Formats: sequence, C-alpha cells, structure tokens
Amino acid sequence: MDILEQISELERQAAATLDAVTDPKGLEDARLKFLARKGALPALMERLKEVPNDKKREVGQALNALKNRVQSLFDAAKERIESATEEAGIDPTLPGRPVPDGHLHLITQVTDRIVGIFRRLGFAIAEGPDVETEWHNFDALNTPQDHPARNEQDTFYLDRPADPKYGRFLLRTQTSPVQIRVMQSQRPPVRVICPGRCYRRDEIDATHSSSFHQVEGLAVDRGISLADLKGTLEFFFRELLGPGTRMRFRPHFFPFTEPSFEVDLSSESLGRTGKDWLEIAGCGMVDPAVFEAVGYDPETYTGYAFGLGVERIVMILHGIPDIRLFEQNDLRFLRQF
Ligand code: DAH
Repeated sequence: MDILEQISELERQAAATLDAVTDPKGLEDARLKFLARKGALPALMERLKEVPNDKKREVGQALNALKNRVQSLFDAAKERIESATEEAGIDPTLPGRPVPDGHLHLITQVTDRIVGIFRRLGFAIAEGPDVETEWHNFDALNTPQDHPARNEQDTFYLDRPADPKYGRFLLRTQTSPVQIRVMQSQRPPVRVICPGRCYRRDEIDATHSSSFHQVEGLAVDRGISLADLKGTLEFFFRELLGPGTRMRFRPHFFPFTEPSFEVDLSSESLGRTGKDWLEIAGCGMVDPAVFEAVGYDPETYTGYAFGLGVERIVMILHGIPDIRLFEQNDLRFLRQF
C-alpha cells in the first residue's frame, strides 16, 4: 500500500474509532492507539523519511492534514464525553480521593498540654507580639542597661526607627514581656499563662536554636507568697510528668524577680537523660521595680512569675537528642508524634 493510501486508511480508522467512543476509557485507548508517542500517527509520520524527494512535499502536507484531522476528531470526542459525564452527574461508584490529614506539631501538642494544666488552675491565656520593644523586653523587666542579653550579638534588633516612648524594636528574647503587657492592660488579680515563640542570636547546635518556645506564667494579687508558687509548679510538673516527679528550687538571679530560683526536676520519666536533676524552669517573686514600671502598687500587691522552655521539656519527655529536628519539617520525624 502506498503511503498516501495508508494516510487515508488511518484517517478512516481514526474517525470510525473516535466517533464510536462513549466513555473516558475508550477515549484513552483511542489516544494510545493513534496519537500517543508510540501510536499509529507518529509511526506513519516517521515514514516521511523514506519518501523520495520529489514526493516529500505532497506526502508531508497530507501527513500534516491527517494529524490535524485526528487531533480534532479526538477533541470532539473528548468534549462529547465530558459533557455527557457532566450531564449524568457525579459517578458515585468511583473510589473517593483520600484527603491527607496532618496533625499538630509536637511543640504545639505539648504547649497545649502545658497550657491546659494551668487553665484547670484558673489561669487565662495571654499573648503578646513577637516583635517587641526594648522597653517591654528589657527595661520594664528591670534589666540593667549594660545587661549582656541586650547586646546586638545576643538579640535580633529590627532595622526600623525606634519608638519614641518604648525604644528600639527587637524580636522578643523571652515571653516575659507578655507579663508587662498584661499588667499594663488590667488591674490585679492577674493569673495568666503566656505561650509563645522567642528569638535569640545563639550559635545553632543540638540544644540551641535561633527560635524556640516558652511558656510564661504570672500571678498577682494581695498576699501571694512563695508557697503559692511552689505549690503551683509542683502540681503542674506532677500533672505533666507523673506523680513520682520531684522538684527543687535552687537560688538564682533574674532581674525581674526577687528572690529568684531555677527549678530542677527529678522524675522516672526523665530516666533516659542519665542525670539525677534537670534544670527546667526559672521563677521567682515579681520584683517591686516591675510593679512600679506597670503602675501596680508594690505595697499592696505581690506576685510570682515563671518561665519554661517548651523544646527542652519536649526533648526530655520524648528523648529527642537534637533541637533542630523540630524545625526541619521532616515528616519521618514529625509523624512519630
Ligand atoms: N525569661 C527567663 C528566660 O528566658 C525565664 C524566666 C525566669 C521567666 C524567671 C520568669 C521568671 O517569669 O520569673 O530565661
């Protein structure tokens, strides 16, 4: 059969097939048979090479016309099938498409648990901005001008004009400024729990990240004492880590509390860290200078405050060796929790 005859033969076949197609499966079969890379049409077009030069032009034109014709037969069939499917409505026999369902990040899960325990004790949730002012993050918290944390090596300062009243803008280095914002906006009694992200210009390694999470607590009222702080934290850690958890206060220094303590924990669930006591939080009685900064009368009110590092707690709870895992978004890690 000469090639021109083959061309008209193929056109007849394609037209017959495509006109008869009634469903998506038939359409796909037809596409594979004629148009796809290994189909009849490309195979025939390949043969243009073998055509003697004086015939090339004629045969080339015929092949092009064939190609256009088959394509438009295909398009017409496709449209016909699509509108038929639409008219018939949705095919309920098709299997559903699975929707991939995610879950909360481990840090969020544990933060929710921490906050949940304090809510049962009557603490309300408070939040503050990640972009803070130097006044809220340092001055109002009684941090001296020459404190090393204020250093540009330790704190991310923003490249924007300072606020005339509150000073330079920075990424908060702790959730403690939320204490200040809460006290500025309400009168005692105060009982808040403040979860949030913090930022420091730390050298990044297995235990340091440039961003991490803290949960801050603050209670202010008449007659609040260190015993309230101790009882509250003890209850909290037993709820979080189990009844066998023991806690001790070790004297420390924070500018915004006096006296100040670091909290150490000892618990069976901390067994895998290999240490007897683990430092887990900072806390203390609110310094009178802080009350003065927010306009509370330190003669009338006392209060306690504390701050926990969420990553640290999560790493201990789950035996996670490297803080960087939390931010790498590796599903093999995240799906385990
Ligand atoms: N802000 C402290 C830090 O980031 C933690 C802290 C210590 C918070 C003592 C407090 C506190 O509220 O009373 O290291």
